[in-house]
Amino acid sequence: MFPVHRPRRLRSHPQLRRMVREHVVTTGDLIYPLFAVPGSGVAQEVKSMPGVFQLSVDKLVEEAKEVYELGIPAIILFGIPDTKDEEATGAWHDCGIVQKATTAVKAAVPDLIVAVDTCLCEYTSHGHCGYLEVGDLAGRVLNDPTLELLKKTAVSQAKAGADIIAPSGMMDGFVQAIRSGLDDAGFKQLPILSYAAKYASAYYGPFRDAAESAPQFGDRRTYQMDPANGTEALKEIELDIAEGADMLMVKPALAYMDIIWRVKEATNLPVAAYNVSGEYSMIKAAALNGWVDEQKVVMETMHGFKRAGADLILTYHAKDIARWSEAD
Ligand code: PBG
Ligand code: ZN
Repeated sequence: MFPVHRPRRLRSHPQLRRMVREHVVTTGDLIYPLFAVPGSGVAQEVKSMPGVFQLSVDKLVEEAKEVYELGIPAIILFGIPDTKDEEATGAWHDCGIVQKATTAVKAAVPDLIVAVDTCLCEYTSHGHCGYLEVGDLAGRVLNDPTLELLKKTAVSQAKAGADIIAPSGMMDGFVQAIRSGLDDAGFKQLPILSYAAKYASAYYGPFRDAAESAPQFGDRRTYQMDPANGTEALKEIELDIAEGADMLMVKPALAYMDIIWRVKEATNLPVAAYNVSGEYSMIKAAALNGWVDEQKVVMETMHGFKRAGADLILTYHAKDIARWSEAD
């Protein structure tokens, strides 16, 4: 006897397919990363990320307007400072590049949500995410003293007008440190989007060109997570929830769909997936060669993130996605 069930019945017409579609990607889910550099009139394309630019504050404000007009609700800012030092001064200085960019964007486009990445690697001379140990453990990042710098950084970002603080350094106690710093400075209402499960990934390669933040020696494996681990991500999110995170991020996204799923199952907080630079560059490179259909591959990837449980997606494809959905 032929089976009673024929799943193809519901695939027979575009409208039927639309009616039974389980997930949608909307422009409202997207956060667009931007890179601020000193100077004016600067729009320097990142070689390994076609379509992504380092922008001086004036150009970044123009870009922010365009992003807002496309209906994208939020940007996340990264900064490339004039000078780098051991103390990551450029990260926490009130006149730092990200602080300037934040204030300028909020003045020009008040309804665009500005998230800021809170880390030190773009600002340290050695490119690591904090103070370094000396002696036997030379080169390791010191955890607790680094928290003090990160706390200062988050508070100065808040003072500049940031709407969301996004701690990305994978230091232990990071969320608690900045939560108490922000509360003490009067920013009790400012939400924290924690890069809770952040892996030591080769997919960050192109970002480190864009942010000029590659470590000068060694790698980040003593603080970012081992790609071979899954359960450990649940430990990380449990800690961040206890420390006061309002939203949780999994990063990278594509090779970590299981982690997005497990994190979403384990929490009632919003979950963000960071579709990182290397994931973007792989699709871009293939598309520019004519090897894949860019729009189809990008949207299929985004649907994958939604199916896996992502509420929010940080992606360099955000402007393209917004334009494509206008055309729908
Ligand atoms: C800073 C930071 C990184 C990314 C976001 N914040 C790089 C890193 O950890 O080296 C990567 C983003 C991307 O690849 O798109 N800690
Ligand atoms: Zn860092």
